[in-house]
Amino acid sequence: MRMKRVAVLAAVCATVWVSAVPGAAGAQAVARTASPAAVQTSQWDGVYTEEQAARGEPLYRENCSMCHGLALAGTVLAPALAGPVFTAKWNRRSLSLVFDVMQTRMPLNLSGHLSPQQNADVLAYMLKRGESPAGSRELAPESLAAVIVRSAPAGGVK
Ligand code: HEC
Repeated sequence: MRMKRVAVLAAVCATVWVSAVPGAAGAQAVARTASPAAVQTSQWDGVYTEEQAARGEPLYRENCSMCHGLALAGTVLAPALAGPVFTAKWNRRSLSLVFDVMQTRMPLNLSGHLSPQQNADVLAYMLKRGESPAGSRELAPESLAAVIVRSAPAGGVK
């Protein structure tokens, strides 16, 4: 009985949380109805800043590189976090899903979770290492849902 109550509560919370994320529903609606290149923001549109990626680098080295590799190319322990294999896997999905993995399951050895801001900074560093260009606005945890991963920019990587 008690467990059931908890489960219902969890479901309600999840629903409220999802509908409270700005842009989440909008981005999905767009994904279904419009041609991707025309309206969606992707990781090729300058969605992080150089300073942010620079903040993310030491966090990545300390907390993630032992499994995912210094080059973010993956190791026998963990998958790549940048490059074609990574973008192909997440293609057409929102960056908020990648962020969710980081927030809830990483680092896998549970050596202490990073804060949402720190994870956004690590994500900025991952994008930089994946050759995505920097821009003038930082990647904020609450704006990730509107950024859709695309395997390559229209016209190829510059
Ligand atoms: C102890 C090893 C370990 C550490 C440390 C670690 N990871 Fe992972 N990570 C894994 C493994 C194994 C997987 C694949 C299984 C899974 O998704 O749970 C994974 C999966 C992921 C994924 C999903 C990748 C995909 O394409 O499915 C992301 C994103 C990620 N890790 C980010 C991070 C970040 C960021 C850090 C540092 C804050 C980190 N990880 C630290 C082992 C680790």
